Amino acid sequence: LVLADLPGDGLERLRQRCEVTLRSAGVASEAELSALVAGYHGLLSLLTQRVGERVFAAAEDLEIVANCAVGVDNIDLGAAERRGVVVTHTPDVLTDDTADLAWALILAVSRGVVSGDAIMRRQEYDGWQPRFIVGRSLTGSRLGVIGAGRIGRAVLARAPAFGVETRYYQRHRLPIDTEGELGTEWCPLDELLATADIVSLHASLNDENRYLLNAETMAAMKPGSLVINTARGPLIDEAALAEALRSGHLGGAGLDVYENEPRVHPRLVGLENVVLLPHIGSATWETRVRMADCCFADLITMLADGRVPARALVGTVG
Ligand code: DGY
Repeated sequence: LVLADLPGDGLERLRQRCEVTLRSAGVASEAELSALVAGYHGLLSLLTQRVGERVFAAAEDLEIVANCAVGVDNIDLGAAERRGVVVTHTPDVLTDDTADLAWALILAVSRGVVSGDAIMRRQEYDGWQPRFIVGRSLTGSRLGVIGAGRIGRAVLARAPAFGVETRYYQRHRLPIDTEGELGTEWCPLDELLATADIVSLHASLNDENRYLLNAETMAAMKPGSLVINTARGPLIDEAALAEALRSGHLGGAGLDVYENEPRVHPRLVGLENVVLLPHIGSATWETRVRMADCCFADLITMLADGRVPARALVGTVG
């Protein structure tokens, strides 16, 4: 059961080896998916589709869920594990494009790219002025990356090109050699928040880090600093972010993901110092084809070749 019409020709390859149902309009709810999924051995899901206990309970024959995303917070991995269902995702192929988009947001927020564009489109530009859209110099500033997985590391790797110094935080420190290659250093979260001019989130969402940035942690951030989020919306309490921006404590935010996606907190929409994108971190043609190819390859490996794919996260036993 394939829940989206994905770019590329992977669907054709899957059709040569398996019987396929394509629901190109997607599936609205977990209840709807539960009613559909019985009898299928494989499911290709999107990050917008909740695949929880209810779906697994309804899908007795299910062997694999191939999620077309690197993040798997839409899937109840515990339920998959209990039922021996393999879950795969799409790591690596979207790392560079997502890191590029984080930097696009850093540049856009620092330099008024979007508000400047809006002024030109409204034909309101009436000549160069010394105090007009005066942004912030990236050179010499400090970037704090939270979550130094593949994408976090790719964001760190791009920093020297902009003359930006970096620190990162995650529970486990990277090997010293990797830190050296990236020109970065681990530091405790409170120190990172207090000293970074820009904080960029790259952690995968779990129960422990929901609202990682909340009223309290944002109050501990350096005054005037920027928040960038290309990871998952619920890492940030959006109401608290809107208040920290309104009060002037934070200097700006660049968001590609939202707490209640696809909705954005209405108070963020009215703020000038915020750049809002519609979850397009991996949205290049090349990457979307590669993501689709990962999913179709994993479905074929599992269902036609009878092997557990290398990208399996859970369900490799049982
Ligand atoms: C992912 O893969 O988790 C991204 O959010 C999709 O672009």
